[in-house]
Amino acid sequence: MEVESFQDLAYNGGTTQQLPPQFIRPSHERPENTKAIEGVTVPVVSLSQPHEVLVDQQVSKACMEWGFVMVTNHGISSTLIQRLKEVGEGFFALPLKEKQAYANDAANGKFEGYGTRMIKNPDEKTEWLDYFFHLAAPPAKVNPQIWPKHPPSYREVTEEYNKEILKLTDKILELLSEGLGLEPNTLKSSLGGEDIEAEMKINHYPPCPQPELALGVEPHTDMCALTLLVPNGVAGLQVWKDGNWVAVDCLPGAILVHVGDQIEVLSNGKYTGVLHRTLVNKERTRMSWAVFIAPPHDKVIGPLTQLVDDDQSPPKYSTKTFADYRYRKINKLPQ
Ligand code: SIN
Ligand code: FE2
Repeated sequence: MEVESFQDLAYNGGTTQQLPPQFIRPSHERPENTKAIEGVTVPVVSLSQPHEVLVDQQVSKACMEWGFVMVTNHGISSTLIQRLKEVGEGFFALPLKEKQAYANDAANGKFEGYGTRMIKNPDEKTEWLDYFFHLAAPPAKVNPQIWPKHPPSYREVTEEYNKEILKLTDKILELLSEGLGLEPNTLKSSLGGEDIEAEMKINHYPPCPQPELALGVEPHTDMCALTLLVPNGVAGLQVWKDGNWVAVDCLPGAILVHVGDQIEVLSNGKYTGVLHRTLVNKERTRMSWAVFIAPPHDKVIGPLTQLVDDDQSPPKYSTKTFADYRYRKINKLPQ
């Protein structure tokens, strides 16, 4: 579905009470038939605890058991997060025409810009969201010319947030390396060291006339190494744990960390990439700001040699470039 028609529906067709068929999920996928389990909450870890005390065990434990952790006291100021949200909201508040001037062309490999779907597959149901996607690191690969020019502070705020996110990434990757009994820099250097990439995706889910029949993003694991995410105040993210969906109730100021496929592969399955999805809302617009941390496309990723041996723990994943992994994931080919 083209940007224009989603926009016509969600923005201009706000009076539509009936969800168009391309958004109606088959019965077994519908939120109304796959409700989150009650009484289960996701793991929360305060990063202000001394390193030696539990932090590494807590973060790595959550990432082994859930592939997911909510972190508080992470060092990124609430003022900066607030500014990040304001510039994103400012962009999405622009008239449709102005946003469309940034349209991406994912089908032709131009992923950066404004769009409605990262990966198009005409046989599949459409997700109820639009988004803005762009690279944010490393500097040599970033092209701020294609970032939103409005609001005018978009670039400055996003650059500042991204610097902080990269520091937090280093810390989490250290904790996860140590959680595997490895040197603190192991995962970072396996992901390309200073060439590690950060991609910003602002997700925007307008109010949906029949949210019980639709999904924001459908169930998936992230193909990157880690995702660091902040939502606005509207609930909707759910993570899969032990056969149930668990609703994520994000504490104000917290950052949500998803383990992605590349960390699962490097750790030979000790860490799990979290399956997750988002629900949409009848009255309120949901937004989220995701930073995907990924290796450069030509980086070869496979189970760390320190973690495998032929008898006790054979490699569970094949070794390949991240570009190859992406291509297979996007085209739903076996890894
Ligand atoms: C995603 O991880 O794909 C979206 C998450 C969100 O909007 O909370
Ligand atoms: Fe995701």
